[in-house]
Amino acid sequence: MANIRIRNTNERLTTEQEVSSFLTKHGVLYEHWDMNKLSNKLRNHFLLSNEDKEEILSTFDDEIRSLANRRSYKEWDVVALSDATPNLDELLKKFENVHVHTEDEVRAITAGNGIFTIKGGDGYFDVELSPGDVISVPVNTPHFFTLMENRQVVAVRLFIDSSGWVAHPYEDPDFKR
Ligand SMILES: [Fe+2]
Repeated sequence: MANIRIRNTNERLTTEQEVSSFLTKHGVLYEHWDMNKLSNKLRNHFLLSNEDKEEILSTFDDEIRSLANRRSYKEWDVVALSDATPNLDELLKKFENVHVHTEDEVRAITAGNGIFTIKGGDGYFDVELSPGDVISVPVNTPHFFTLMENRQVVAVRLFIDSSGWVAHPYEDPDFKR
């Protein structure tokens, strides 16, 4: 399950109840998929072939379609990042800039970890994600994504329109790293 760190106070939320109600209050979708469904070889595997990606999508086809039906997503894919990814450091530098999108940003973590840093009414908070966590950053909400110390993640992404899915930089004098 996800953990939350509130940056201004360094407070951490670590129970399912606290995390869920905090995210709901901020308009962030938060659900879980059962990672026991995923074959063992894909649970700790970060250099994925096209067949591996297809297997992840077919394993969670029901979950994906349920989410897509409820929230109008039309396309989905799998993204994998690890030290095997060429230019990982450059990619992370690019990701770590605060930005917004004109549609919400949905990720279902199937392996590894990641952090979404999101701007709420009382400042930024970090959502630390583990396998099974499904999160959606609301449209036009300043945020960025990064990895945790293990520097590896696999996630399913869902889009309303992937061709229009662009990061618009958000200059925020209040944001401190
Ligand atoms: Fe984003």
